Amino acid sequence: MTRENQYENFLKFLDKAAEVMHMPQDEYIILKYPERELKVSLPLKKDDGSVQVYDGYRVQHSTLRGPGKGGIRIHQHVDIDDVKALAAMMTFKCAIVNLPFGGAKGGICVNPSTLSITELERLTRRYTSAILPIIGPEKDVPAPDVGSNSQIMDWVMDTYSMTKGYPIQSVVTGKDIDVGGSLGRKEATGRGITIITQQMMKALDKDIRQMRIAIQGMGNVGSISATLLHEKGAKIVAVSDVSGGLYNKNGLDIPVIIGFIDSGKRLLKDYDDGVSAHITNAELIRTDCDILIPAAMENQITAENADDIKASVIVEAANGPTSKEADEMLNSRGVLIVPDILANAGGVVVSYCEWVQNIQSIIWEEDDVNHMLERIMTRAFNEVYESAVNYNCRMRYGAIILALKRLTNTFKKRGMYP
Ligand SMILES: NC(=O)c1ccc[n+]([C@@H]2O[C@H](COP(=O)([O-])OP(=O)(O)OC[C@H]3O[C@@H](n4cnc5c(N)ncnc54)[C@H](O)[C@@H]3O)[C@@H](O)[C@H]2O)c1
Repeated sequence: MTRENQYENFLKFLDKAAEVMHMPQDEYIILKYPERELKVSLPLKKDDGSVQVYDGYRVQHSTLRGPGKGGIRIHQHVDIDDVKALAAMMTFKCAIVNLPFGGAKGGICVNPSTLSITELERLTRRYTSAILPIIGPEKDVPAPDVGSNSQIMDWVMDTYSMTKGYPIQSVVTGKDIDVGGSLGRKEATGRGITIITQQMMKALDKDIRQMRIAIQGMGNVGSISATLLHEKGAKIVAVSDVSGGLYNKNGLDIPVIIGFIDSGKRLLKDYDDGVSAHITNAELIRTDCDILIPAAMENQITAENADDIKASVIVEAANGPTSKEADEMLNSRGVLIVPDILANAGGVVVSYCEWVQNIQSIIWEEDDVNHMLERIMTRAFNEVYESAVNYNCRMRYGAIILALKRLTNTFKKRGMYP
């Protein structure tokens, strides 16, 4: 599958949204350029005594509306353009859900499964140390992304705190509860996907219990989305991970599948319940279903497979799963796409809850966190939907327009320094 330049894709979407709302380039040009890009080289002493050097990045796209916010991706395909695009998306995502954050993203170019746990810890600590001058609770607050998890965030928090000389929990979100993490953070993105999918069905006057759903990716986001949508009564007909997928037209037994995945490093290619068929990831994308939820990597829906998609609604749980060309093709066929910058914002909403709790040294009940998430996501859905109706455009542009208005208003009021 062709790999597109994610940052160029972002710029195309941005220019198109500005064109729809007749916004002159001067008003938003600063958003086309990341504020700060840091590239670091990370030497790692492997367990066998040999030394390898890995590339690491941290990009702060915008701090117009608050400290940079965005995950750390640990994956063998991480490059500067991906990180720039993901950072820019965070700027827009935070503006859509109206949080006082800007956008940032980081990454380490390595396949984490090739490292031992002690190697991963040393590499994470070295990365934290290398980006330390530009992160901090008031500057830029990292979080997990593909390939990273709460353990990695705990090491980031510890390394930062050891360097500063006192515990600073608010430097990073997505931590374990014992290290200052928020209740509900682990489930937040998948819960947000579920809220947005339900809102979309409500807007279309459809019953979620009649929906057949296919989900690509059974990591944090995919597995929680599958669990909660299954609980809401939807029929999950297909799921997949990097090893391949499963299909059952009568609906998969999601709790059993999640139990299988959670019981160690188990891949779906090894799952066998005697009734579900094994499918490839390419087949999952063209599964006969009503809603397709890409929840794995970017660039999964391209000009090569867009016309094969049978779903009438796509909820983008992953960041950047649809190329610009595929987006046009799907739109011309009337396929409704709920864009990533709205759909998967649940993670950053609860990251905000975690940051607020850490700064104020308070602990919220899980119910309070979930209510806050529901309120913010529902409001954002309605505002994006209304923006799309007002500008007679699809939801992706409705979302970018909403964010562009907020960002450029802040820019106008703050003024250009010097
Ligand atoms: N975790 C969050 O809070 C969060 C928030 C917003 C957006 N996202 C986005 O959601 C997506 C998934 O993130 P995650 O945290 O669940 O990651 P994860 O690492 O927990 O899971 C990724 C899943 O995708 C699968 N996968 C990897 N490569 C694949 C491929 N080529 N084809 C099919 N499946 C593949 C993996 O096997 C795994 O099941 C990413 O795009 C991420 O940027 C995550």
